[in-house]
Amino acid sequence: MATKIPVVLAGATGKTGKEVGRAIAQAQDMELIGAVGHSHVGMALSDLWSEPGLSVVIRGAVDTIDVPYAVLVDFTEPTSAYSRILEATARGWDLVVGTTGFSPLQLDAIHDRVQHQQNGAVLIANFSLGAWIMERLAQDASRYLDQAEVIEAHAATKRDRPSGTAKRMARLLADGWGRSVEDIPVHSIRLPGMVAHQAVIFGSSGQTLTLRHDVHDRSAYAAGVLAAIRRVHEFRGKVVQNLGDVIVPD
Ligand SMILES: NC(=O)c1ccc[n+]([C@@H]2O[C@H](COP(=O)([O-])OP(=O)(O)OC[C@H]3O[C@@H](n4cnc5c(N)ncnc54)[C@H](OP(=O)(O)O)[C@@H]3O)[C@@H](O)[C@H]2O)c1
Repeated sequence: MATKIPVVLAGATGKTGKEVGRAIAQAQDMELIGAVGHSHVGMALSDLWSEPGLSVVIRGAVDTIDVPYAVLVDFTEPTSAYSRILEATARGWDLVVGTTGFSPLQLDAIHDRVQHQQNGAVLIANFSLGAWIMERLAQDASRYLDQAEVIEAHAATKRDRPSGTAKRMARLLADGWGRSVEDIPVHSIRLPGMVAHQAVIFGSSGQTLTLRHDVHDRSAYAAGVLAAIRRVHEFRGKVVQNLGDVIVPD
C-alpha cells in the first residue's frame, strides 16, 4: 500500500478544523499525525471529537512534532498561523491554509518564503466548490455588467471582516474592470445563526442580477481541503490561491 500523506492540523478544536479534521482522519490515503491548538493543549482528539481510536494529542506548537515531513493544514487565526507557516516552511513541510485575515505584508512574506524554500503551498480563502463556481459566474457576468456590490454574512464569532472570500471577489471584479479594489463596495454582516454566506449584486439600468452562495455547514470545505492535501506537493515554490487549480485536472 502506498505511503499515507502525513498531516498536522492546526485549529482542530475550531468549528472548521473539527469538520475538515474528521474528513482527514477518515481518508484512506492520509494520516493525521499531529494537531496544534491553543486552549486545549494536552487533550486527545478522541475526547475532543468523541471519536474513539484517535490517539493524537493537541500540542502548543509545530516544533514539538518531530517528523521530517508533513502537510500543515491550518484553520486558526492569522497571527499564530503566520508564525506556524514560517516554522513549517523552514522545516520543508507543505502548506494547506484556510485561515484568512493575513495582512498584505504577511501574504508577501509567505509568498517569498515558499518561493525561496520551494515548499508546496495552497492558501485558499474558500475551499467550497460553490464559492469557486460563484467566482466564475461573477467574472462572466462582469463582462456584460460593470457595477456590483458584495455582501457577506458570517457567524458573530468570525474575527476578520470583510471575509477573505469577499475580498477576493472584489479583487477579481476590480481586476476584470481595470479599477481599484476600493471602488467595489463590500458589506459585512456578523450575526449568530449565520454560517458563511455571500451575494454579489450587479446593477444595470432597470435590472439587477444577484449571485448567491450559502454554506449551511462546514462539511462544505472538506472535499476541497482533501484535494489540496493530495496535490500540494505538485505546486513547488508557488502559493496556489484558486481552488480551480486544485480540483480541475490539468
Ligand atoms: N478557507 C476556507 O474555506 C475557510 C472556511 C471556514 C473558515 N475559514 C477560516 O478558518 C479560520 C478558523 O475559522 P473557524 O470558524 O473554524 O474559527 P473557530 O471556530 O474560532 O476556531 C479557531 C481555531 O483556532 C485555534 N486558535 C486560536 N488561536 C490560536 C493560537 N494562538 N494558536 C493555535 N491555535 C489557535 C483555536 O484553538 P483553541 O480552541 O485551542 O483556542 C480553534 O481551534 C478563520 O480564519 C476563518 O476565516 C476558512
